[in-house]
Amino acid sequence: MKKIEIMGCGYIGLPTAITFTLAGFEVCGFDVKQAVVDQLSSGKIHIVEPGLQDALTQALATGRLHFTTKPEPADVFIIAVQTPYKETPDHKRVSDMRFVESAAREVGSVAKPGDLCVLESTSPPYSTRLVESIVAEVSGMDKLQFMTAHCPERIIPGRMLLELRENDRIIGSNRPEAAEYAKSIYEKVVTKGTIRLTDDLTAEMCKLTENTFRDINIAYANELSKVCDRLGIDVFNLIELANCHPRVNVHTPGVGVGGHCIAVDPWFIHEKFEDITPLIYEARTVNDGKPAWVAERIGRDVKPGEKVAVLGMSFKANIDDTRESPSVLFANILKEKGYEVIACEPFIQGDVAGYKNHTLEEAIAACDYAVITLMHTPFVENKTLIATKPYYDCVGLMRK
Ligand SMILES: NC(=O)c1ccc[n+]([C@@H]2O[C@H](COP(=O)([O-])OP(=O)(O)OC[C@H]3O[C@@H](n4cnc5c(N)ncnc54)[C@H](O)[C@@H]3O)[C@@H](O)[C@H]2O)c1
Repeated sequence: MKKIEIMGCGYIGLPTAITFTLAGFEVCGFDVKQAVVDQLSSGKIHIVEPGLQDALTQALATGRLHFTTKPEPADVFIIAVQTPYKETPDHKRVSDMRFVESAAREVGSVAKPGDLCVLESTSPPYSTRLVESIVAEVSGMDKLQFMTAHCPERIIPGRMLLELRENDRIIGSNRPEAAEYAKSIYEKVVTKGTIRLTDDLTAEMCKLTENTFRDINIAYANELSKVCDRLGIDVFNLIELANCHPRVNVHTPGVGVGGHCIAVDPWFIHEKFEDITPLIYEARTVNDGKPAWVAERIGRDVKPGEKVAVLGMSFKANIDDTRESPSVLFANILKEKGYEVIACEPFIQGDVAGYKNHTLEEAIAACDYAVITLMHTPFVENKTLIATKPYYDCVGLMRK
């Protein structure tokens, strides 16, 4: 059986390493963070994901999975490091490929002829060829002596282990034989989904296209929420009725768009094609501006100096991840305006984004006004409690 090395053991890399192990491969989980490697080697997961702790215990028990901070030789390398954006001096948002580049150098330091390097990280066009060039340069091999492919990851937190096996996958390469080889590896774990082969640029654009579609759709919903506010009608009712049309599917508005995917990936298209992607840019601007709009909107009901409970601080419902969270941005805007922020995030233990975390009961008892920013299940289950205070509902939770 082939040896697989996963470069980066975070939200994507860890479940991937476990899934490949349980499919029978020998797997090495490589991460630059000693603390991550130590914790995983001791058998404890470092992220919140249903079923992941049991799966790690099971994978380690096979004796085929280990974690390390030193790159090792392997047959297949899977790069699953973070791909955030960075701001240029002239305030443009562009991909920050430092982590992918250093992972590619690590692969190059141990790769041998015949190896395959798969880039799973969400990346702008031409990134797979960037990885290919770095591996060739560091290893001293000719590009034809090893293979590269892109296989974008499409799983979502909360369903990761399931979706790794069941989602369709796209695998693209500038060499068809590399895509075929990658397919022969991935089909051992993708037991229910279909694997579709294409070229590297199409595979890169596919993941970006999916998330940009959702960003634009949500921007439309967010814009509608402002129109409905002026009209004095319920945007959730409006969208529900419009979606009764068989060919309409408007997404749901919210306090903005967060996370490291939908709020980030559209920039990876825009950065290279600024002159022909005004729609992508505008959608990002609409969604990024929504927290400030909500902060302005509640000014009609509640004044600076008063206590506002922010119900939900993560970037989406029922998860603990606050990366690029519009709720955190919203809380910060309220604070700047002089409101007293009472943060409430039931999926995080202890302080959250620099705020003292409160239980829902504490937050409602302490606040003058509540803003529901996320459709967290514990909030849905406690609507009666929330309704004891005046509130603004960004997500339509109170009508559920
Ligand atoms: N998290 C998700 O829900 C999700 C879903 C789909 C796609 N993605 C994409 O998957 C990629 C990984 O995202 P993530 O959420 O797992 O990131 P993460 O930040 O949770 O994990 C990345 C890990 O890589 C490690 N790392 C950084 N540089 C390294 C290097 N040079 N060598 C080895 N390890 C290194 C970090 O220490 C970290 O543990 C990103 O491109 C992201 O956009 C994420």
